Amino acid sequence: MRPPRQLPLMGLLFFSLIPSQLCQICKPLINTMLKANYTKGIQNANVLLTLRLVGIKNQSLEQQLSQQIKEDINSKEMELTSGQLALGILALGACENPDEEFIHGAHLVSKLGDKFQAEIQNMETHDGNPLTNYYQLSLALLALCLFNGSYSITSVTYYFTPENKNYYFGDQFSVATLAKKIQSEGKQGLFGNIFSTGEAMQALFVSSDYYKSKTNCQETLRTVFYNISQNAFSLPIAAAQILPALMGKTYLDVTNTSCSHNPVEETSWGPYVTSVQGIRASSSDRTYWQLLSNGQPLSQ
Ligand SMILES: *[C@@H]1O[C@H](CO)[C@@H](O)[C@H](O)[C@H]1NC(C)=O
Ligand SMILES: *[C@@H]1O[C@H](CO)[C@@H](O)[C@H](O)[C@H]1NC(C)=O
Ligand SMILES: *[C@@H]1O[C@H](CO)[C@@H](O)[C@H](O)[C@H]1NC(C)=O
Ligand SMILES: *[C@@H]1O[C@H](CO)[C@@H](O)[C@H](O)[C@H]1NC(C)=O
Ligand SMILES: *[C@@H]1O[C@H](CO)[C@@H](O)[C@H](O)[C@H]1NC(C)=O
Repeated sequence: MRPPRQLPLMGLLFFSLIPSQLCQICKPLINTMLKANYTKGIQNANVLLTLRLVGIKNQSLEQQLSQQIKEDINSKEMELTSGQLALGILALGACENPDEEFIHGAHLVSKLGDKFQAEIQNMETHDGNPLTNYYQLSLALLALCLFNGSYSITSVTYYFTPENKNYYFGDQFSVATLAKKIQSEGKQGLFGNIFSTGEAMQALFVSSDYYKSKTNCQETLRTVFYNISQNAFSLPIAAAQILPALMGKTYLDVTNTSCSHNPVEETSWGPYVTSVQGIRASSSDRTYWQLLSNGQPLSQ
């Protein structure tokens, strides 16, 4: 095995399918996140991540969530799974905020590297099965990429190629097979469940194949909007998972320096979306992400 190396991760901006009136429908989701009672520590990491990623400014809530996440990491670091620690890092490190100190001080990125390595070792000895699941593995790899962690490029190349169909980004879906799943099973436009839909949507938005079928996209959005109106995303974690995709963000934007200049402003009526940054009208724009090694896609 070659020594671990760093892998540059390219994220390009994402193509607009979403009309600006969309954010009318985002409001109940934002309210769900703002009004919930949070007691579950690291399990709410994705709520903090979404608040920061889409630029919902509520300092007291941010502080409360960040405090709970740090306490959990301090008190049960060993028990945390790779995906939990990855989400913790993504949330604490999102959009240039003071919590980055904590990530460095507690050496969280190298600890995540160890957990990722343990997953890979388990895959090597147990017929490709990780300790957790491919979804967590993908989150861990994403966090390692974005926060300059190290990992074995050989293993990643082997296990994360589309041929291996291991690149999961929703509980049951790999990016490689997502498009097909949508055609076959996703007639209702909502794939997986309300928890995985948001992340699956992010994956789709960065996967260029999906745009070949605009109908799929619109169908998915229509169903999501309908489900929102039916209160399907009434749990803060579910709301937090769907919101970035609806607002044109993916987890790849976490370390983007423009991430901290975001469009949501707080007014006396609560948060209000004044503009949707980064979403352009051009339908010729495409977005995708690729894992590149020395400029070459990993699968080659
Ligand atoms: C949160 O907790 C407060 C006080 O314990 C309670 O009044 C309120 O209904 C709770 N809110 C939700 C959304 O559960
Ligand atoms: C900010 O978050 C707190 C919970 O920490 C919530 O009680 C409050 O209503 C939120 N503020 C707004 C303007 O939504
Ligand atoms: C990762 O490394 C690159 C290049 O060395 C640097 O520009 C970037 O700020 C680093 N990112 C983090 C989150 O440390
Ligand atoms: C979402 O809406 C579809 C109809 O378009 C419905 O079949 C499905 O049960 C809804 N899901 C949830 C979780 O409400
Ligand atoms: C960061 O975000 C800005 C605006 O949202 C975009 O123009 C830029 O391409 C992004 N940079 C990266 C590296 O994704």
